[in-house]
Order: sequence, then C-alpha cells, then structure tokens
Amino acid sequence: MIKQAIIPLAGLGTRLLPLSSVIPKELLPINGKPGIQYILDECIDAGIKEIILIISKKKIMIKNYFFNDKFYNKIIKKKKDPRIKQEYKKILRYRKLIKFVYQNKPLGTGHAVLKTKNLIKDKFFLMLLPDDLIIKKNCSKSMIQLNKRYHSSVMASLKVKKSDVTRWGIYKFKKKIDKKNFFIDDVIEKPSLKKAPSNRAVIGRYILPKKIFSKLVKQKPGKGGEIHITDAIQSLIYDNEKFIAHNFSGKYLDCGSMKGYINSSKEISKL
Ligand code: UTP
Repeated sequence: MIKQAIIPLAGLGTRLLPLSSVIPKELLPINGKPGIQYILDECIDAGIKEIILIISKKKIMIKNYFFNDKFYNKIIKKKKDPRIKQEYKKILRYRKLIKFVYQNKPLGTGHAVLKTKNLIKDKFFLMLLPDDLIIKKNCSKSMIQLNKRYHSSVMASLKVKKSDVTRWGIYKFKKKIDKKNFFIDDVIEKPSLKKAPSNRAVIGRYILPKKIFSKLVKQKPGKGGEIHITDAIQSLIYDNEKFIAHNFSGKYLDCGSMKGYINSSKEISKL
C-alpha cells in the first residue's frame, strides 16, 4: 500500500495575482476552506500516513497556518467557542501527518520533487498538485487501487480541447486496459499542436516510483528553463517503466487560474 504523499507548493502562483502576492494561493479559501485542506483530506481518505509539503521561505505562512498553537490556546481560553476548538483539533490532526521540506528557488516541479529524495521510503509514492482539485470521487484512492493491482505507476488523465494541448503534459497510449485505464508509451510536456501525440492530458495526481529520483538528479532543464517532472517520467517510460493513465470519475476543478479559482467555490457550494 502507498503510505507517503508529497505536495509541491513552492511555485509563484502568478496566475492568481494579486490574490497570491502576500497569501500563498493554497491558503486562499475555496467555499470557506483553504485549498490545501481539500488536498490533505483527499490524502487522508485515501489511507496516506505521511504527507510531505514542499514549500519555500516565501511561503512560510503555510507552515505557520498549521503551527499557530500559542494563538489558538489563548483564544480558546478566552472565547470558549466550541467551533474554534473543533477547528483547532482539525489542524492538530493534519499536523500529525505533515512534514515540510524547502525548495527556495522555483526551478520546476521536478526540482521540487527531488527535495523529498531522502524522505521517500517505499517503492511508490503519491504526488498531488494542489491547483488541481478533483471532487465527487477520491481520485488518489482509485489510483492507489490501480497501483496495487498492476504494480505500476499511475497518472490521472483528462481529455482537453485540441487547441489547449500546449498548456499540458500530453500522453500517447499504448494499450487499453479497460474503459478508464491505459498503459502509455510516451508523455510530452507542453507540446506544440503539431507534436502533440493526442489531446489526453495529465492532471495533478501521480503515483511515481522511487526510481524517479535517479532520473531527477541528472535531469536537465526543459521547456521554459524548468526541470519538469514530465521529462523524468518520459525518461522512465523510455526505460520500459510501466505507467497507467487513469481517466478519473470525479469532477476536475482548475484552481490555479483566476477564472477556475472563482468557479471552484461555486462548484463546491453545490455539493
Ligand atoms: P505551476 O507552474 O502550475 O504553478 O506548478 P505555479 O508556479 O504555482 O503558478 P503560476 O503558473 O505562476 O500561476 C504546479 C505546482 O507545482 C508547484 C506549484 O506550487 C504548484 O503547486 N511548483 C512549481 C513547485 O513546488 N516548485 C516549482 O519550482 C514549480
């Protein structure tokens, strides 16, 4: 079973400016709850026992959010409000599971993942990108089941508009397993319309093998001068590592863009 998850949070969040200029975007509320808590809840519900948050010094507010004991203890004593007590208890529950590592320069998702190299214990681990909320069905849980069944890496997948392929990691499938799952034989980070092998995109849920670190340590910067996790995955696939693309059943909400962020509160309020 997969027991560890990592969450890269050290990006700049420029698409959510000005909201993200002082407050890390992952602490912005989505229907009254910080975005990061949806991601942590998904991990916990999927049976994850340790969650590694990759932050930067600039995003220390994320750590402070989970370690504000003095403040809570004082307020709880003074106000005697059961709601505050309840919320503080929730924070303490998250605290038992989370750890922090630092990526102080945003050199790319692959570079962020490399910061967890010495903490990953098992053959496979889960990675969640916090901009990508998936509601209605726990995508991580379904992917963990697939990993258990096929002993394979897994990535969440979604069909996107053909004209949008340049914004995503796009994959090519080799063999259909069933209606929702495919073995894949290539993935390309933000391809041109001409080079895109399909319009099937990778969404921010991954089950990755520990051996990805041996690729990341020698990974050269790719598109936009960043070290992308997709390039390391491509290299593993070329070495015959099995990767499954999973067409998840839940509803995808893109919280990383302003339009998507606004829409996500609306969608969640309907649940
Ligand atoms: P993105 O590149 O999509 O988001 O990274 P961003 O950089 O945060 O925001 P924009 O594009 O400027 O608006 C996807 C995820 O990877 C993390 C980000 O925090 C985000 O959760 N990331 C990205 C890192 O942790 N480190 C990096 O160097 C880059």
